[in-house]
Amino acid sequence: MLDVGCGAGQELLPYLGARCVGIDLRRSGLVEGRELFGPRAPPFLIASAEALPFEAGAFDVVLCRLALPYMDVKCALSEMARVLARHGALVVQIHHLRYYLRRGLDGPLAVVHAARVIARGAAFELTGRQPQGEVFQLVGSTRRMLMAVGLAVVEVDEADRGAPIVLATRR
Ligand SMILES: C[S@@+](CC[C@H](N)C(=O)[O-])C[C@H]1O[C@@H](n2cnc3c(N)ncnc32)[C@H](O)[C@@H]1O
Repeated sequence: MLDVGCGAGQELLPYLGARCVGIDLRRSGLVEGRELFGPRAPPFLIASAEALPFEAGAFDVVLCRLALPYMDVKCALSEMARVLARHGALVVQIHHLRYYLRRGLDGPLAVVHAARVIARGAAFELTGRQPQGEVFQLVGSTRRMLMAVGLAVVEVDEADRGAPIVLATRR
């Protein structure tokens, strides 16, 4: 199992019986992860989601929780699809537009941040070209980007309206 943009990697905690790997750009999260897991820590590697240092088809499950907004989304999804095994599952939790609309109510700084993310996300939705910086996702466009990299969405869990979970497998 691979956790992409894992931070401290807490999503891997329930799966320690499996072979797990977490990757993140920032060392600080990985250090926290090593403390959290102690001697049972899985390998935590500094790596970029846009250039995963693994062979094609290496993982049965790839997770990416709330990290896609900070990545080159198309490139990262293409890499996740590449390292996914033939019958593997990709689980992506996205930050939906609704998340930022709600965040905007948290005060003046949050309004500015949310407005920027919404403007960038809207440009990405309209042009297909991703501006630099954090962007929101929508389920529809995530579905289309996954299809473009050979994956099909089999389930969407919108229990958390601001952060839907999308499950995809190879088509
Ligand atoms: C909001 S945190 C989520 C962390 C973790 N997945 C969780 O659910 O707690 C986003 C994480 O994505 C990482 N990240 C951002 N861009 C990345 C990239 N291009 N490649 C790998 N990790 C990245 C950040 O360093 C950060 O740890």
